[in-house]
Amino acid sequence: MLSLLENNGALRWLGKQLFNREDPAAFFDPLLASIDPMLVRQYVPARVVDIVDETADTRTFVLQPAPRWQGFAAGQHVNICIDIDGVRHNRTFSLSCSPRQWQQHGTVTLTIKRLPGGRVTNWMHDQLTIGTTLGLGEAFGEFLAPELPEPLLFIAGGSGITPVLSLLETLAADDFRAPVTLLYFVRTQADVIGAERLYALRQRWPAFTLTVVATDEGRTPQYLSDSHLDAVPGLSARRCYFCGPKGLMDLAGDLLYHRGIDEHRIHSTFFSAPKAALPDADLGGDVRFERSNVSVEASGDVALLEIAEAARLSPKYGCRMGICHQCSCRKTSGTVINRLTGKASGPGEESIQLCVSVPQGPVTVDL
Ligand code: FES
Repeated sequence: MLSLLENNGALRWLGKQLFNREDPAAFFDPLLASIDPMLVRQYVPARVVDIVDETADTRTFVLQPAPRWQGFAAGQHVNICIDIDGVRHNRTFSLSCSPRQWQQHGTVTLTIKRLPGGRVTNWMHDQLTIGTTLGLGEAFGEFLAPELPEPLLFIAGGSGITPVLSLLETLAADDFRAPVTLLYFVRTQADVIGAERLYALRQRWPAFTLTVVATDEGRTPQYLSDSHLDAVPGLSARRCYFCGPKGLMDLAGDLLYHRGIDEHRIHSTFFSAPKAALPDADLGGDVRFERSNVSVEASGDVALLEIAEAARLSPKYGCRMGICHQCSCRKTSGTVINRLTGKASGPGEESIQLCVSVPQGPVTVDL
């Protein structure tokens, strides 16, 4: 029975015979979850096997995904899904370990800071216990290590260190010999996330230089400045990676731009998706999901992905922030506003990202 339940083809056949439906997960997951949460098919189940305190407000969750999870490259992100009080929540986090940990031990880590008012991060800190199972998406993202050795500069702030930890440990394990500098901005030394791992890397990896800047510990706040960059040898030849709060990333981009660093040598990854201020009154309209034969009336600043889910459809998605393009879909008519840019689409047929597209008037989508 279990091997039948573990086989998607068999489930599809059974779902077709019993319910004339092709989406077996929606029917069988509740049954599978009651037998063993690791058997569900709609997402890859991952069991929490350890929880480690990093700082007063940050914890590392060690997860053991089911073997069918496809792995990741250093610097990538994953979506997780968690049911809280009967409501499913999806969030995107960076993996904080090296892919070797997954290959050798079958585990991965998410290092997560408690956000003020954050429904999911607070629940994870307060309620998630060892042995609990959550859903894990496949990894995505382009914040990746260079293919060939070249000098690197990482600038990270706060919990933006998480993909950087993954990259640094991977580079060190690959015996990356070009100079690598990390400028890491935290409020106080006690807020350094992954402190043991960073200090251990500094000890054992000669190419690595670590500078921790505790912004709130001086007489005046210590922000990223030209003096930090002046101390990086051979800066103009470095490939640069930023991850942190938007203010730090914008400042780093400006300072490096004025030093003539080519923008193609700068890589950054999100912390949270920027959002254009959209006038609510202009938004919404009749949305038709053509293939599903479902019509919905939407109003206000609600993206097509959320509208489809509220209509009990299950479009594919990844980051829900306009980054991964996994939710891309054909709009066959109507105008949508891109939530990130505030720009309007054309009225005709084109590819859109459901997670950041808000209807402005009637819209039809090939879903
Ligand atoms: S879900 Fe990633 S771009 Fe829409």
